[in-house]
Amino acid sequence: MIEQDFIPKTYSETKDSGSVTWSSPSNIALVKYWGKKEHQIPENPSISFTLNNCKTTTTLSFSRKESNDVFSFDVFLDGEQKDSFKSKIETFFNRIERYLPFLRDFHFKIETSNTFPHSSGIASSASGMSALALCLMSIEKELSSEVSEAYFIKKASFLARLGSGSACRSVEGDLIVWGTHKEIDGSSDLFGVKYPYEVHQNFKNYQDTILLVDKGEKQVSSTVGHDLMHDHPFATRRFEQAHENMSKLIDIFKNGDVDTFLKIIESEALTLHAMMMTSMPYFILMKPNTLEIINKIWAFRIETNSKVCFTLDAGANVHVLYPESEKEAVLKFIENELVAYCQNGHYINDQIGFGAQQIDN
Ligand code: DP6
Repeated sequence: MIEQDFIPKTYSETKDSGSVTWSSPSNIALVKYWGKKEHQIPENPSISFTLNNCKTTTTLSFSRKESNDVFSFDVFLDGEQKDSFKSKIETFFNRIERYLPFLRDFHFKIETSNTFPHSSGIASSASGMSALALCLMSIEKELSSEVSEAYFIKKASFLARLGSGSACRSVEGDLIVWGTHKEIDGSSDLFGVKYPYEVHQNFKNYQDTILLVDKGEKQVSSTVGHDLMHDHPFATRRFEQAHENMSKLIDIFKNGDVDTFLKIIESEALTLHAMMMTSMPYFILMKPNTLEIINKIWAFRIETNSKVCFTLDAGANVHVLYPESEKEAVLKFIENELVAYCQNGHYINDQIGFGAQQIDN
């Protein structure tokens, strides 16, 4: 599909008001998206596990307004008005207006809440933007009889991408590819797709325990970090490497080789942070406790032959990934050895999930 396919013809139905609700999960990238072109087009393909427990629920209420000169909306987080979210949503609406021409016709009330604490250092942009994109698609579906199930999902991911790149990987589960890769049929820079090939039992129900090392605001936003990949001395090689790692994962997913899997996953995490450290200006998002945890995981692996590994997103928190078969042993290890490095001992147990869900109002 191309971009033009997401521009609707005139709508067949009219609707004056209503309300829709979606719950959408976060995701954790295995091969990282870091660097983008204009219009939220990624510099390289990425792949992620969709999560299950960390999610955002958004209710979008809409009522037709008199004039259609401006966007009109209010945002609430946990029942409290959040004007600080408005500029991000205004930018999102500007980017998607071409594809949703009804946006100026309504006043919107956006009511959102997260299952994870707001100040946990867990980014809510993937779950939040995908939930909002899905709500907007539900409205489009009410205005048009032509919206098929498949189109709905693709366009929701397409719109979510324009809100936040990684959000396009949160609409479905359990393993999602975003960005064109020559060996992955159907992969696209425009939206996320389900990983289309065989996945070994070892990777089913994979566990992710998120260790909250630092719950503060990030000093450097992802958007700024992506920008620093322009003119980055290692960018070209890094983008090639992401393609290579995606190719390697195809075999790994098929034959269940968890040992090779964890080498790629950890290398991707450290490469992401290496890109930050070698940007100009350079920055470091890891904290001393991030490194303590990484070293503990490596020691535990040597001692016990466990397949536990870590990945990082653009922050200090550590995602501890492990097969379901090791759940008991790894949770004990986390309790005994890693919790001490978490801020206030906080961590969140999550696992692979299957994507967003509409909730009846
Ligand atoms: C490190 O999707 O948050 O988590 O498109 O600017 O909103 P924007 O960036 P964002 O970047 C996420 C980067 C990452 C890696 C990943 O999720 O692939």
